[in-house]
Amino acid sequence: MTTAPLPASPGTPSTPSTPGTAAAAARTLNTRAVDGGTTRATLEGKVALITGAAGGIGHATAARFAAAGARLVLADLDAARGEKAAAGLCAAGADALAVHVDVTDDGSVAAMAARTIDHFGKIDVLFHVAGGSGRRRGDGPVHKATVEGWDWTLNLNLRSAFLCARAVVPHMLERGSGSVIFLSSIQGLAGGGEWFDAHGYVAAKSALVGLTRAMATYYAPQHIRVNAICPGTIRTPMAARVDSDPALLAFVARMQPLTGGPGEADDVAAAAHFLASDDARMITGISLPVDGGWSAF
Ligand SMILES: NC(=O)c1ccc[n+]([C@@H]2O[C@H](COP(=O)([O-])OP(=O)(O)OC[C@H]3O[C@@H](n4cnc5c(N)ncnc54)[C@H](O)[C@@H]3O)[C@@H](O)[C@H]2O)c1
Repeated sequence: MTTAPLPASPGTPSTPSTPGTAAAAARTLNTRAVDGGTTRATLEGKVALITGAAGGIGHATAARFAAAGARLVLADLDAARGEKAAAGLCAAGADALAVHVDVTDDGSVAAMAARTIDHFGKIDVLFHVAGGSGRRRGDGPVHKATVEGWDWTLNLNLRSAFLCARAVVPHMLERGSGSVIFLSSIQGLAGGGEWFDAHGYVAAKSALVGLTRAMATYYAPQHIRVNAICPGTIRTPMAARVDSDPALLAFVARMQPLTGGPGEADDVAAAAHFLASDDARMITGISLPVDGGWSAF
């Protein structure tokens, strides 16, 4: 089914609608595409910029966004894998561009945003996925962590979010709309105990929850929504240590009863799809756990 885009409302108050009216029904229909008998939020007409897009969660999200009709920039430090991921999506009919970026570098991030706008004309969605553990760089419990490990971890997971938002938000302000999604972690909502003891990582992912709230409340009048996703353990290269340690795997299985172990990258992609879509037009400032139940304990 072909769907008409929502009427542009940026910068102006939306038209009040009464539940049950034809206008309300049309508005609902306009945000959806019928897909095999089920309804799924469409991203038709949207341009999404995904960082860390060559990795597990980023790539799964890019595939989902492409299937929902978005045009995409896949940005990653690993240029070769980024190119390969974008080529795979294009071969399947998507409109996707790979861009090399180091999200810890101000100039590189600015160039990524400029390249996206240059190529596609706009950015509707920023999903900042790039990040990772600093465990091998010296992150750890505070009495063992090195200053370098702490700095490296906060640089990659927190400062990068500031740099990406700083590069994209001025454009969204000009357009009067946008959706920013940060990738926090269950570690941003709960301490990791003995198993997840990289305290710099926990601090960085927790700070993303605060940044999300601050930006959400500040930019809501400009129709820029800002949300975060807090995954539990997800089976990607980053979480490989979980599968290789039976005791850790048993801990994760206990904390994530819904999956009985690590979740899949597409579990996170599904949440990002929703938050990126107009179905979430009334949602901002949340940090959504996608954690198999972990945060409910
Ligand atoms: N896998 C999990 O269990 C889990 C759980 C919670 C949160 N997360 C978060 O999800 C995000 C992605 O993790 P993943 O599991 O897909 O891992 P991944 O290692 O598969 O992917 C990470 C991607 O980020 C890229 N990257 C790393 N440094 C970069 C830089 N400086 N600039 C640009 N790109 C860079 C890597 O090349 C890689 O493609 C991270 O922010 C991570 O903290 C992961």
